[in-house]
Amino acid sequence: MTEPTIINLPKILDRRGNLSFFEYPGQLPFEIARTYWIYDVPGGEIRGSHAFKEQQEFIIALSGSFDVVLHDGKKGERFSLNRSYHGLYIPRMYWRSMENFSTNSLALIISDKQYDENDYIRNFEEFKKQKNNV
Ligand code: TYD
Repeated sequence: MTEPTIINLPKILDRRGNLSFFEYPGQLPFEIARTYWIYDVPGGEIRGSHAFKEQQEFIIALSGSFDVVLHDGKKGERFSLNRSYHGLYIPRMYWRSMENFSTNSLALIISDKQYDENDYIRNFEEFKKQKNNV
């Protein structure tokens, strides 16, 4: 998978409530190395303006809503996440920002790599240079 993709997750519905899940290789295109979550984001804040050289991610709005804005070096695309059974797959080398967090939103982020600051590109011009040279 080389394009950003919304992946629909299974939904098991019964009168006790709903259950969704993901696993590798069933729903996820990569093996999980790390999970983190972002919460209590003050209104108007923007998170995660960076790209990853190698890391792939999968993002779910477990609660509430927010937008993930992706840029491929040439154009941007906005994905509004507001369902706990929709996940956004993000390949390596996409600039990504997260914004418009609703009150009490909870962003779950799954990664195929352990945390490594050296994998981040935090400068947009540097990102475009590297991306467009590929
Ligand atoms: P950062 O990735 O910049 O957050 P965001 O993408 O939401 O803007 O990370 C913020 C801080 O948290 C930074 O100092 C690194 C630290 N951090 C870890 O220690 N481990 C992790 O898995 C993550 C994602 C961040």
